[in-house]
Amino acid sequence: MKTCRQSPTEPAFVQDPYPFYTRMRAGGPLAYWEEYGKVAAFSHEAVQTLLKDRRFGREVPPELVTEGPSHLAPWLAVEAHSLLDAEPPRHTRLRALVLRAFTSRAISDLAPGIEALCHELIDAFPEGEFDLLDAYCSQVPVITICRLLGVPEDMAPDLLRWSHAMVAMYQAGRTRATEDAAAQAATEFTTFLRGYIEKRRNDPRDDLITRLIAAEEEGTKLSTDELIGTCILLLNAGHEATVHAIANGVKTLLETGTSPAALAPDTIDRTIEEIMRFDPPLHMFSRYAYEDVTLFDHMFRRGDEVALLLGAANRDPSVWAHPDRFDPTRATLTNTSFGGGLHFCVGAPLARLEMRIALPNLFARCPALRLAKPPSYSDSYHFHGLAKLLVCH
Ligand code: HEM
Repeated sequence: MKTCRQSPTEPAFVQDPYPFYTRMRAGGPLAYWEEYGKVAAFSHEAVQTLLKDRRFGREVPPELVTEGPSHLAPWLAVEAHSLLDAEPPRHTRLRALVLRAFTSRAISDLAPGIEALCHELIDAFPEGEFDLLDAYCSQVPVITICRLLGVPEDMAPDLLRWSHAMVAMYQAGRTRATEDAAAQAATEFTTFLRGYIEKRRNDPRDDLITRLIAAEEEGTKLSTDELIGTCILLLNAGHEATVHAIANGVKTLLETGTSPAALAPDTIDRTIEEIMRFDPPLHMFSRYAYEDVTLFDHMFRRGDEVALLLGAANRDPSVWAHPDRFDPTRATLTNTSFGGGLHFCVGAPLARLEMRIALPNLFARCPALRLAKPPSYSDSYHFHGLAKLLVCH
């Protein structure tokens, strides 16, 4: 197996990681990525196989669990109750509860509100150059997830602040300051939710938090800590990636001069899948091996970690012809941007709904939309999102 060296914070890589992925994939499905100290999967087949292989999972094997440094305790406490980092039977129980509350009806009921929100935000666009990331792409997902969970919309700025500080823990270049900020955000977020859940117990509404509280009150199904961990996961996961999926999509559509016809009702779904394939907002997730397993000529030992490069799998030429070309008319629609297997993204239908409303409305209302400056990605790998999206309309 090839060994590769690539700093995830190198500016050229941050701006365009795809040439590195192409070089790695050409050398075989797996390569040892020195900076991460683990084997990484670059081909579509290897990523899909590992996502679906139950001998691998996200939960840390018990013999590798450590207490962690005390300054991180509040952040670790939230993580410890996250369904994202659990495996069956805990994962099955938590995911079933979330799915019970996260019905397709609850999602589709959000559509008229998302549509109205997009129009309000567009009505408020300033004249001249402005940052579409702040004015639009960030607002739609954060307000939508507040509505779905039943969190007051005026909390959106706090949620954005807490969430950015917490997810920075997964980004390359983490420092002690990142850790202190994440711990502080976790403390504030947990305190807010504890108080809010107490209030909502006596004043139930028709929202996801109320349904999760009902599950908690049924007894053994959901502990209070799990309820808080689940709400934080949904609030964070519910907007961080969608913000950048929308923004990367706007950038791609503008840079490629894609025809507005690609956003028509009968073509928009394909266009969204191509946006998700071409430039997804999350590029890498990891798994632990739970037993000794040989795959793709490599022997994984129990406890080994393997990185799954979703962004690389999406550009595999054995699945998509001319994968570096943005082509919303492609026949192959599947991609790995929402993961696969047991942890497949719970929010994929919501993220797709937000994109299918936010993008056509933006381009219909702002037919002269153009980039005011070439956008650049923020130094936040494995996230792949823009720092700013300066536009004029
Ligand atoms: C374009 C936007 C989004 C992208 C690209 C995305 C991507 C992903 C990916 C790749 C995973 C699986 C991670 C793994 O296998 O290790 C995942 C899991 C998850 N996502 Fe999303 N997501 C998006 C939007 C959302 C939204 C809107 C929500 C919630 C409202 C959400 C909630 C979750 C949850 C709860 C999980 C954990 C599922 C589990 O562990 O069973 N995501 N997401």
